[in-house]
Amino acid sequence: MSTFDSAALKLFEDKGIVNSQKVRRIMQLTSDLSRRKFSDLRILDLGCGEGVYALEAGINGSKVVAIDGRDNRLKFGKEVAERHSLSNVEFIVDDVRNVTIDKYGKFDVIYFLGLLYHLDEPELWVILENLSKACENIMLIDTTIGLSEPLKVHYNGKNYFGIKYDEHIEGDSEELMLEKRIMASIGNKKSFLPTKKSLVRFLNEIGFSTVMEVHAPAEHIKKEGRITLVAIKNEKRLLQSYPWINGLTDTEIGQKLDGHYAEIPHVVKQKPPFKTRIKLMIDKWLEKRGYELRKKLRN
Ligand SMILES: C[S@@+](CC[C@H](N)C(=O)[O-])C[C@H]1O[C@@H](n2cnc3c(N)ncnc32)[C@H](O)[C@@H]1O
Repeated sequence: MSTFDSAALKLFEDKGIVNSQKVRRIMQLTSDLSRRKFSDLRILDLGCGEGVYALEAGINGSKVVAIDGRDNRLKFGKEVAERHSLSNVEFIVDDVRNVTIDKYGKFDVIYFLGLLYHLDEPELWVILENLSKACENIMLIDTTIGLSEPLKVHYNGKNYFGIKYDEHIEGDSEELMLEKRIMASIGNKKSFLPTKKSLVRFLNEIGFSTVMEVHAPAEHIKKEGRITLVAIKNEKRLLQSYPWINGLTDTEIGQKLDGHYAEIPHVVKQKPPFKTRIKLMIDKWLEKRGYELRKKLRN
């Protein structure tokens, strides 16, 4: 049984059956991490498309602002909200570049799902900084990341790594870019996919004190390089036990540790398999007693 009507369920079903696990993951995270009722939360859904996340949170009582740069998907969500009298879910056509705390206020939870990898640097960094200012508690990011780091880019005196991707190419018509490629970027032909390490470091530097990757609830069909991150906005803890660490950025701490432990290779020692360990134990035991039997047999 669902409170949504059959036309709404068909709209969600048409997104593909795999989407069910994505929506479940985001709703479960919202509940588990906020530890509050949906009706207590103000949520921002960015690049909302037809707004399935916004509507699911909205039907559970959250106040939701759902924003997308394209009206041609968002209008279907707006119709669902109107049919179900969800006046708590507001659909707005706007560009993510315009989303600031001054324009839209603060949110307990921000959904930044399937949009980050459509944006290009350096404006990606500015957008994330704006979202950090508007975020009171949690930002959930679902994105494809750069799996290699051929490109080094700079922002605010720091280096970040990733790859560039062609969203559109020179000569593509406005109609094609805006009306036909309805999942792609708006206003930029290339996008920048930071590596996981660079993205996590940047989020940490702009005020998200904890950044975690999600493994459960599971998503069975997730392409390589596609991840869900949880970024939690909080005061950074100051340590009494290692006071030198207070006030250093993650990059500075990394440099200090690398300088200090440069001689130690970052190799994880792995235990040999159980059978091999038993053989080695027997060899050792025999060797101690003067037998070279097993080794000889093996050679
Ligand atoms: C891949 S879809 C993701 C939709 C939805 N969040 C989801 O996960 O199912 C990307 C969405 O971002 C929107 N978008 C792309 N660039 C945007 C921009 N600069 N500002 C606002 N929305 C944008 C697109 O119109 C599209 O609906």
